[in-house]
Amino acid sequence: MNILAIESSCDDTAAAVMKDGRTVLSSCVSSQVEMHTVYGGVVPEIASRKHVEAIAGLADRAVSEAGLTKAELDAVAVTYAPGLIGAVLVGVNFAKGAALSLGLPLIPVHHVRGHIAANYITHPELEPPFVCLCVSGGTTAIVDVQSYTEMAVLGGTRDDAAGECFDKVARVLGIGYPGGGPMDKLARGGDDGRYPLPVAHVSGAELDMSFSGLKTASLNLIHNAEQKGETLDLSAFAASFGKAVSGSLVPRVMAASSMTGYGKIAVAGGVAANSRIRADLQAACARSGDRLFLPELRWCGDNAAMIGCQGFYEFLAGHTAGWDLNAYATRDIGLG
Ligand code: KG4
Repeated sequence: MNILAIESSCDDTAAAVMKDGRTVLSSCVSSQVEMHTVYGGVVPEIASRKHVEAIAGLADRAVSEAGLTKAELDAVAVTYAPGLIGAVLVGVNFAKGAALSLGLPLIPVHHVRGHIAANYITHPELEPPFVCLCVSGGTTAIVDVQSYTEMAVLGGTRDDAAGECFDKVARVLGIGYPGGGPMDKLARGGDDGRYPLPVAHVSGAELDMSFSGLKTASLNLIHNAEQKGETLDLSAFAASFGKAVSGSLVPRVMAASSMTGYGKIAVAGGVAANSRIRADLQAACARSGDRLFLPELRWCGDNAAMIGCQGFYEFLAGHTAGWDLNAYATRDIGLG
């Protein structure tokens, strides 16, 4: 089954063709990062306009790079939630038009379910059930992946997402946007004990997290150093920050895994590329005996291959949409 998949939930326009869920025939991504860098973050209106400009050409390219004609497509899958509403709408409307004109079924895919499915592309042997730590610019959640299409959130952030925290702190340091990648590089070889930063606990909710305190503490530390004319050891600061983020995420996903007893842990989303989090998870799983599944770096960030992969399983479960499909800025992952 050949699925044309479309993703436009934030600042990357993406189109891909997936065969039978797990084989990537093509994957095209058009990044808008340069457009947004000058503003230090994504400007929703600009993102929507750029999606409109890029999407049709990118979908054509995905079909031709897959070595197929449009007549050989069997369905169209699209991210319909969550994300920047104007941006998601562009993808949804394009996918509706493509499916209608080609006479194909339309498959709505939850963006975070797509991130989780990126693991199926990297690991052909991975099957639910497992626990997945979903960490991106907009999401921080520990998800119980009971089956390909049945999921429940076990815990999540009460405020900022981990990726958002990386981005805000990096912006104040002036080291670029999005900030997670540069912070990760800067942290390598840095002394992670030099700047003690807080790891929050949500009382009564063992698997929940909070990153706003870490963000405030980090910004205060940076501003205080500036005011006192002190030079911050950037590498040590980035390492201390990475340690605090990882120290919040890793113990909780390990606790979730032991609660469910699945013995399998996956990670998903842009922040899943972080080398400290990956290393800490590897060490924790070596101790606990859990099997760890890490997506290849190229499938961690936003892409449409992951949407085509999850779309295949949604289709098998009968989850197709009518022409009244809407886009949603927020949507519970359990609802699909
Ligand atoms: O999944 P993604 O591409 O988009 C969303 O769906 O949000 O995630 C983007 C986020 C950004 O916050 C970015 O700073 C972060 O992923 N990120 C990283 C790394 N690479 C990207 N965060 C930490 N370490 C990285 N290596």
